[in-house]
Amino acid sequence: LTAYLNGRYAPLGELSVSVLDRGFLFGDGVYEVIPVYSRHPFRLEEHLKRLSGSLAAIGLADPHTPAQWAGLVAGLIERQPFDDQSVYLQVTRGPAYPRNQAFPEPPQPTVFAFADPLPAPPAALVEHGVAAISQPDVRWGRCNVKAISLLANVLARQASVDAGAAETILFRDGLLTEGAASNIFVVAGGRIVTPAPSTRMLTGITYDVVIELARLHGLPLQIREVHEDEVRGADEIWLTSSSKEILAIVTLDGTAVGNGVPGPIYRQMHHHYQQFKV
Ligand code: PDD
Repeated sequence: LTAYLNGRYAPLGELSVSVLDRGFLFGDGVYEVIPVYSRHPFRLEEHLKRLSGSLAAIGLADPHTPAQWAGLVAGLIERQPFDDQSVYLQVTRGPAYPRNQAFPEPPQPTVFAFADPLPAPPAALVEHGVAAISQPDVRWGRCNVKAISLLANVLARQASVDAGAAETILFRDGLLTEGAASNIFVVAGGRIVTPAPSTRMLTGITYDVVIELARLHGLPLQIREVHEDEVRGADEIWLTSSSKEILAIVTLDGTAVGNGVPGPIYRQMHHHYQQFKV
């Protein structure tokens, strides 16, 4: 696997960063995950825009122009032996000594990227759906920033693994926020409902695509606060992310969602997404 670090491509195993890197010491950095289908990055412009927004939010000057980022990603994609990829980009505030929470001036950001093979979500998961559990959302107040400091997400996601489930749905103050690593949609009363972008969730690129597809195909959609009871009583629940696309959640905390199988609106949306992503 060929990866990228600070201006050069090299085998992943040969790359290393300083133990003083603020990404390592403080989780002081931001990242992106970009799906690549048949060597074409999907929604590249939107991912790069979100990356520059994340950098601005943490007060770190963007080390690259959008054209440079696009070139970096293209260079990474062409060096991989597989066609469908998941490209990971990360920028940290770089190494600094002595250790100090305050920003180093000037920072020397660390830019790291690598690509993984991106297998299509297994047909059995698309066909039968997945299980989810729920937890209170105990994360910080800026979940819209795609920060690498992900400890709360890590713990929430592991709780689902320990429970034999695929995702943990998070609720804050009785309202749906998102999943540990995904956005959440529900179908209730024949409408697709999902929370509006806010500091309580990451605005997923897949989330935006699903909203666009609902509008394009005239499916009833409401973007608004979603109460925990509505999620628990929903006919359908979906999760969306760049790596999992759209999956139906068929049990929540061990209770069947709707009929306990992926619902009709899910099937339509999944179909539209497959048509759209190529
Ligand atoms: N996670 N919310 C959170 C907390 C996420 O971590 C992700 C994605 C999403 C969905 O965003 P998108 O549709 O742009 O992938 C929502 C990525 C895939 C990850 O951390 O691996």
